[in-house]
Amino acid sequence: MKKFKVTFYPDNLTIEVNKDTTILSAAITAGIYINSVCGGDGVCGRCKVVLRKGKVICSSSAALTKDDKEKNIYLACLSTIHSDLEVEIPVSSRLNLERMVSPELKGLYSKSEDIELVKPKDQQEFSYAPLAKKIYIQLRRPSTNDNLSDLERLYQGIQLSPEVKQSTLVAGIENIQTSLSNIKQLGELLRDSEWKITVSIGERNNNSEIIAIEPQNTTKRIYGFAFDIGTTTISGQLIDLDLNKVLGTRASYNKQASFGSDVITRIIYAQEKDGLEKLHMAVIETVDEIIQDLVQEHKIDLNDLLYVVTSGNTTMIHLLLNIDPANIRREPYTPTVNFAPTIRAVEAGININPRGLIFCVPGIASYVGGDITAGVLSSGLYRQEDLGLFIDIGTNGEVVLGDREFLVSCAASAGPAFEGSGVACGMRASRGAIQKLKIGRGTKVSYSTIAGDRPRGICGSGYIDLLAEMLRCGVMDKDGKIKNTRNSLIRDGQMGKEFVIVPAAESASGEDILINEADIENLKRAKAAIYAACSILVRQMNFEFSQLKKIFIAGGFGTYLDIENAIQIGLLPDLKRPKFRFIGNSAIAGARQILISLEAKKEAEEIARKMTCMELSTEPQYMDEYMAALFFPHTDLTKFPSLVL
Ligand code: FES
Repeated sequence: MKKFKVTFYPDNLTIEVNKDTTILSAAITAGIYINSVCGGDGVCGRCKVVLRKGKVICSSSAALTKDDKEKNIYLACLSTIHSDLEVEIPVSSRLNLERMVSPELKGLYSKSEDIELVKPKDQQEFSYAPLAKKIYIQLRRPSTNDNLSDLERLYQGIQLSPEVKQSTLVAGIENIQTSLSNIKQLGELLRDSEWKITVSIGERNNNSEIIAIEPQNTTKRIYGFAFDIGTTTISGQLIDLDLNKVLGTRASYNKQASFGSDVITRIIYAQEKDGLEKLHMAVIETVDEIIQDLVQEHKIDLNDLLYVVTSGNTTMIHLLLNIDPANIRREPYTPTVNFAPTIRAVEAGININPRGLIFCVPGIASYVGGDITAGVLSSGLYRQEDLGLFIDIGTNGEVVLGDREFLVSCAASAGPAFEGSGVACGMRASRGAIQKLKIGRGTKVSYSTIAGDRPRGICGSGYIDLLAEMLRCGVMDKDGKIKNTRNSLIRDGQMGKEFVIVPAAESASGEDILINEADIENLKRAKAAIYAACSILVRQMNFEFSQLKKIFIAGGFGTYLDIENAIQIGLLPDLKRPKFRFIGNSAIAGARQILISLEAKKEAEEIARKMTCMELSTEPQYMDEYMAALFFPHTDLTKFPSLVL
């Protein structure tokens, strides 16, 4: 097969690829992540690149304008390589955090970053009993009168250990298991360490398993990771399992985003040659980077990292475990697995202690995954006497209705706009994201950013404020069109009219931070999908919104979400404001609770067994509800009586 060299700018990275490879695939191989909202169908137009030199063959697409063609702009996903190439990837085509606009800003765009989370004051409390524990044991030396074998002596030592007697830290010590490799090293290790050892025990499928045996006392060195594998964002927390303390939290864009922005495009991609392996490797790389970042920062030995608990939607968990997700989108929409067994993390490709374990929070159905189980666990909805609603605003908008008697869920495809993807200046809730915003006199915008950094983009909560403020001050009409006010901040752009929020001189990238009409359309569709899902679920279960006593709002919004503004734009139902609780990223909160509590793990499994799922695509009224919600706040204003419009 003929090979060609491709050089990407401004990265100045050259790789060699086979003839007929697409520029998009070549970029992924080079570690450069290009927007690919439609998954390479040539529809979204987000993967535009400039061909500086060389020859490509590109199928025609309506996503390319005449102007693009004149400027030698091609779609990376449809352009196959037929000579050595030089390709420039503009900022607008890169996944948001990879914007390398100037060398001095490079540090700002590191692959994973600190994130702030909502303080867990509203979370459920569980007894502290982590899924992995180290126990220090001093065994009696054998003698002619006491000739128990080494392994039996070890088991006896574990059973007599005061820590094991006092706590529920491991599941049933009677059925303790270990591996041949541990047994093989046991004789020498016990004698070399003078019978003083530390045993690491982990919970594995309701049994206790010896993960490792070390000489001397290392009980202070035991760590675990909680992850939320989102379609757009992956968040991870390093937990000290001895002190029950979060040492750090990081988030990063899921590298799979280059293969499509939603789960459907990823499932389709997984069917292509090597597609599943590439998607699997992309998620593993992202997870590994987060682990490496935090482990290095806290100077932790990977061998002391013993347990990972991860939540994630059903497709993400399949791809993490390298399981073909094809059946998730085929009728009758049955995934390969909802309750994945606890396995060695290394089997999934995750680099921790080679015998460390991974537990995936069980899911409910193809489109309601373990992230929702973890969220419901964390919110406490399943323990409530009164009827409540749990809404997770993410790439999929999942909704759960219920109380301690029943739980019913559904999922709507909202798209990643509120996660800062698929919108021109969107970004995750991390440093420099505009998270609060007000429009004052003369459309002057005041804002605050996460960590007080110079603004780099707008995150979900910033967009909610922005839409509400644009409506309030008349910059945008109820259909989402930017109005022609005589204002220097409003101008015509490629994607319709645009409103400049932060001028280039003030922003971290040196480029305007703005919203355009295409962004507003994306955000409007996302909010309509979520509102319609809530409305249908409540109605189909023969309830009314007014009967809800508590509404939990979850999502990767960082530490802030203005409920009033979310109601103003019609994202949330118009109910008494004190009923709402913003609980942040509840999926990672639930994963962390499971990691540190066997009780929480059992409750999560019970939630997943109990929750039923309503399939919205078979609900004939869903489309009507969705269409009616494609307005700010809604076409039927009687549903929003408290709003002064
Ligand atoms: Fe290329 Fe959508 S047009 S990824």
